[in-house]
Amino acid sequence: MSTWGATADASARRTPRTAGVGLRLPHLAEVVATRPRVAWFEIHPENFLANPHACELLQEVSQHYPISVHTVGISIGSTEGIDRVHLARLRGLVDALEPVLVSGHLAWSTHQGAYLNDLLPLPYDDETLAVVAAHLSEVQEGLGRRYLVENPSSYVGFGSSTMTEAEFLCELVRRTGCSLLCDVSNVYLSARNMGYDPYQFIDALPVNAVHELHLGGFTSEPDEATPGGEVLIDTHAAGVAEPVWELYAHAVRRFGLQPTLVEWDNDIPPFTTLAAEAIRADEVATMTQKDSRALAG
Ligand SMILES: [Fe+2]
Repeated sequence: MSTWGATADASARRTPRTAGVGLRLPHLAEVVATRPRVAWFEIHPENFLANPHACELLQEVSQHYPISVHTVGISIGSTEGIDRVHLARLRGLVDALEPVLVSGHLAWSTHQGAYLNDLLPLPYDDETLAVVAAHLSEVQEGLGRRYLVENPSSYVGFGSSTMTEAEFLCELVRRTGCSLLCDVSNVYLSARNMGYDPYQFIDALPVNAVHELHLGGFTSEPDEATPGGEVLIDTHAAGVAEPVWELYAHAVRRFGLQPTLVEWDNDIPPFTTLAAEAIRADEVATMTQKDSRALAG
């Protein structure tokens, strides 16, 4: 077990237990100029590392808001190993921003040195577990802090898997001391695509390891091979769907109030639309907590 507890505890004290918004480049100048009422922002470092002007504006944002760094370029599932140059650049940004959280996906996205524009799935077996756990420890060591691992959006499973995704994530937590980022939309979408119960998936995650939640929109396309005749695609190009709000309430009942991110990466709407989704997330979480307390009392 790694010793990332102290770092995580210090970050947790500074982390708002409310909803934040994914800060994308089209909104960056507006956010700097208007300082909207948003609790915190999450950024993709890969959008900023090669863009000095955007980096400067981001530094300005970080003076006024807690920042979470969510990398899409650390390929913890790749058998080729972690790109140490990218990890070092990420460490530089993390040291400059002092984010409250740093996270990334349970996936692989590099092959023969090339970055693929996709977060690709892994078989859940002992061999993969050993590879991912070793990479995760290297990433946490390289960044000097605890890393949150996000459950992916899934469309197909591997016949060679010997454990469920939730079991795989539990074991990663046990071996590396990492935390989990539960993307509630990914849970819903994967469960619909693969034909399992999303509520049972959430109940199977280790309750004390989940320190962030994600909410994002998806797109439905006809697909005869998928249960229900449609496949849900994780496009982040729409608002949060009603069944996902219900599942989010269940996640809040299980994990308590956690920083919750509204993600919207394609067909990006005006910033006010994102802020409104964050307000709804806070309302759902607050109402759920009130209902839980009333039932308990
Ligand atoms: Fe996500």
